[in-house]
Amino acid sequence: MQSEARPEARRPIRQLDAAAANRIAAGEVVERPASAIKELVENALDAGARRIAVAYADGGKTLIRVSDDGHGIPAEELPLALSRHATSKIDGTDLTNIRSFGFRGEALPSLGAVGRLTVTSRAAGAAEAASISVRGEEQGATRPAALAKGTVVELAGLFTATPARLKFLRSDRAEAQAIGEILRRLAMAAPGVGFTLSDVTDQGSPREILRLDPEPGELFDGLPARLRAILGPDFAENALAVEAEREGIALGGFAALPTFSRGAAVAQHLFVNGRPVRDKLLLGALRAAYSDVLARDRHPAAALFLTCEPEAVDVNVHPAKAEVRFRDPGLVRGLVIGALKQMLAGAGHRGSTTTGAGMLGAFRPESGEYAKAYSPPAAAPRNYAYAYSPPPRPSARALGFAEEMQAPSARVEPEPEEEAPESHPLGAARAQFHETYVIAQTPDGIVIVDQHAAHERLVYERLKAARQGARVPGQMLLIPEVVELDAGQEAAVLEAREALDGLGLVVEPFGRGALCLRETPAILGEVDGGALLRDVADALIEGAGDGLGQRIDAVLSRMSCHGSIRAGRRMTAAEMNALLREMEATPLSGQCNHGRPTWVELRLADIERLFGRRG
Ligand SMILES: Nc1ncnc2c1ncn2[C@@H]1O[C@H](COP(=O)(O)OP(=O)(O)OP(=O)(O)O)[C@@H](O)[C@H]1O
Ligand SMILES: [Mg+2]
Repeated sequence: MQSEARPEARRPIRQLDAAAANRIAAGEVVERPASAIKELVENALDAGARRIAVAYADGGKTLIRVSDDGHGIPAEELPLALSRHATSKIDGTDLTNIRSFGFRGEALPSLGAVGRLTVTSRAAGAAEAASISVRGEEQGATRPAALAKGTVVELAGLFTATPARLKFLRSDRAEAQAIGEILRRLAMAAPGVGFTLSDVTDQGSPREILRLDPEPGELFDGLPARLRAILGPDFAENALAVEAEREGIALGGFAALPTFSRGAAVAQHLFVNGRPVRDKLLLGALRAAYSDVLARDRHPAAALFLTCEPEAVDVNVHPAKAEVRFRDPGLVRGLVIGALKQMLAGAGHRGSTTTGAGMLGAFRPESGEYAKAYSPPAAAPRNYAYAYSPPPRPSARALGFAEEMQAPSARVEPEPEEEAPESHPLGAARAQFHETYVIAQTPDGIVIVDQHAAHERLVYERLKAARQGARVPGQMLLIPEVVELDAGQEAAVLEAREALDGLGLVVEPFGRGALCLRETPAILGEVDGGALLRDVADALIEGAGDGLGQRIDAVLSRMSCHGSIRAGRRMTAAEMNALLREMEATPLSGQCNHGRPTWVELRLADIERLFGRRG
């Protein structure tokens, strides 16, 4: 049959019947249960609802129901609400002045084309409610119904008429999760509206997934509380307010400190006039604003709200309204980057890393004489690739020393006899301070090493080297660990199971939403398996579009963070020296996996200048 449709066998052009045309058009609007819910909730918001209840069964595949207390639809307009290109929101004369979510008059007819749709509504002031059903082209009669207020829209058997489409849906869990995500997003921009989400798959005992009470106050007064409820207290505590305005375009919201970044771009919530968007321009501006303070593979977390006159933005450029087009993109980009950079600068050292040059600058007395004489040290650390000399075996004395000293925050270690400071580029370890940094003495200065960043790089290189051989050796866990993952993470890990196996990370399915972790890469030593697996999953999700080699590197990089000496761990002199020696022997050890320096050098000459000993 397929072969009949080859281009050379020309067939006459004909008009598709309405049912087929509608189904095709509907495909653009309703991709999955979550997109149906988005349309229905937007309709409820457009109707001025203060409370919106969403229910679904089987991930929304068998049933979706959205109930609201908005202004409702008069009985005589119900048939019109279900017909294509019928809307109460615009009159068609001015497409530049759209102030509602809806404007196409497409959502309800599209839903009617892909499932059995029932709308029950009671318009404000009406004596009774009315109900109408539609399936495909068969629209039923309007009948009286029982409803105190507002509108209830029910969609049953989504895509049963289009089995091809049904096949593209993911598991019930994954669809349910997408529903939750879209609802949370919409709820962020409407803090004054109360939302509930329930799973009614088991009709006997519905499960409440989400409850958001309406936040009091004007439009955005309730925003902080709503964001805390949705994004969690961690976000709230690590985020700073963003506020800026330029030529009639206002930016508000919250963005998190760089240290609160995520492994994937999953915590970026952008809104234009209350409409959730995944807009390339805005996402790019967000990334650009953080580029100085965040590694390429880390993603800032933010909830940002742009508001402007509707004329400044075209919302009619994407079938699911997920993208917009600004009249002046440069203005918007500048506004977003400027406001975020200002916020980050205001956060001061909370969010920034210090390089050698920056640190020296901070040390310097402010008087001009010294400043003039000062010449900054080589800013970018060099990469060392020296011949490897095995680290000295830890001497009993050195180990004992570390154990005796209980709580000092800076310790002076005895210099191991076998080490002459001159003999190694990174010098001899002299002290560890704040259980995070190692100070080493070199022939002409001192080196400060970030122990975690440095070790992370070393573990990464070791993992890469091990993978060159064959399988990265795994280490069986004495007790296999059951790790709970969200649906996306679970799917990503299972999909990559074989590749992960080759990296020494062995998992097995363990029922809904959980995996059983049996082996971790031996190189990592003892790790928190759950945290490791979740991070690896994030790396996989993030690299979904990349080639296999790239994804594996990303996974190794993420793994190495877990196998590394943590900041905050006290090290013995022998351990510190071993770290320095291995750094010298490892290529690219000058920066950690995130591109930050692993060590900085202060030369004696610079130190002498600081103290005015040199001109
Ligand atoms: N929950 C609701 N409460 C009140 N009126 C509603 C509700 N849902 C739909 N309507 C009415 O039905 C009309 C058609 O809804 P539909 O979603 O199909 O189109 P729209 O919202 O106008 O545009 P769009 O296709 O862009 O969403 C709306 O214009 C509105 O008047
Ligand atoms: Mg609509």
